[in-house]
Amino acid sequence: MILQTNVSLHPFNTFHINANASHFIEINNIEILKKVIAAKYPNEFNTLILGGGSNMLLTQDFNGLILKNNLKGIEVIHENEKYCLLKAAAGEVWHEFVQFAIAKNLGGIENLSLIPGTVGAAPIQNIGAYGVEIKDTFHSCEAINLETGETRSFNNSDCNFGYRESIFKHELKGKYFITSVTFKLNKSPEFKIDYGQIKDELSSKGITELSVKAISDAVCSIRRSKLPDPKEIGNAGSFFKNPVISKVKFNELKLKYSDISSYPAGENVKVAAGWLIEKAGWKGKTFGNYGVHKNQALVLVNYSNATGKEIYDLSSKIIESINDIFGIELEREVNMI
Ligand code: FAD
Ligand code: EPU
Repeated sequence: MILQTNVSLHPFNTFHINANASHFIEINNIEILKKVIAAKYPNEFNTLILGGGSNMLLTQDFNGLILKNNLKGIEVIHENEKYCLLKAAAGEVWHEFVQFAIAKNLGGIENLSLIPGTVGAAPIQNIGAYGVEIKDTFHSCEAINLETGETRSFNNSDCNFGYRESIFKHELKGKYFITSVTFKLNKSPEFKIDYGQIKDELSSKGITELSVKAISDAVCSIRRSKLPDPKEIGNAGSFFKNPVISKVKFNELKLKYSDISSYPAGENVKVAAGWLIEKAGWKGKTFGNYGVHKNQALVLVNYSNATGKEIYDLSSKIIESINDIFGIELEREVNMI
């Protein structure tokens, strides 16, 4: 266990924000994590677990301990003729894990291709894209309590998954280090191509025979065409959640804005926050080193060396403007320190 001090977090966040952590330990195996807990560091320091840093905005230096998750390994723990239980250590790169499943022709997570970050962070906000969320295939995860060292297994219903939500963002926020996640993947996949653009992408490539690989490739193409690559432009994906509003409120807005973009959400309606932000005139706006992305208004970007505080302040202005124009309160999706 090596306790480093005053470490730059610039390489560890996809917004490419310059901020330092006062203390930093790389968790390369579970024994190191157990030593950290035995030394009672999580009691002594304000502690933050970091995966790929792709859903994080650093608005200041972090006076505390970063636990950088590097746990690796993928194994089949059970299979029969219908499904396979695939367990991945939490530090595996999510997209590499998806590709591992695709190479075995296992279905269920192909629509989640190319989402940045680690396997261990995927349950935190129940990552989702193109009509699929991890709750659809999540079997269980193992996690270690940072105060007591107790290992606990969480099954799907324990996690209280919702749209970009789980128990790990609420009651158990910061309490458990997820060490592995097990997915129940299908050997006879049911393909989900209802999300319009997937069908369009497949037909533009002349693909008529569906496979997990073909869907993954289509999703990757769509994502590359509209989302900025964090290697080139700092960002953390959607900065805000798509707001869910009542049908009454939606119908009022629809009278005024007939082209409003929305999806059904049970009794309510989910409105595309990207549409609201674009309509309010923010799309593509640049303020020195940072701004709102030109292809996806839901994505705030750092073009060179903006501070996290500047990006946070921009997000506050957007929230205020959307509230003024549409009477809708946007909620940030990105985690903040
Ligand atoms: P981090 O940013 O490192 O951490 C996120 C949170 O999880 C923090 O609170 C952290 O403390 C906690 N955490 C991380 N690992 C653990 C662990 N092992 N145990 C306990 N807590 C932990 N998200 C989507 O849902 N759908 C998308 O389509 C999508 N597209 C994106 C596109 C781009 C270009 C980018 C940059 C981001 C996108 N995201 C998307 C957001 C992001 O990829 C996900 O939230 C991802 O799961 C974050 O993983 P991470 O390892 O980088 O987590
Ligand atoms: N739109 C606009 N202008 C924009 C962006 C979007 O009008 O600048 C409208 C369009 O009508 C478009 C609709 O919004 O049809 C939806 O856009 P898109 O398909 O890009 O999806 P999104 O709702 O903006 C959500 C997720 C993404 C996920 C995609 C695909 C949230 C907060 N975001 O974005 O997740 O990849 O759907 O399923 O739910 C993330 O969480 O970081 C993320 C990127």
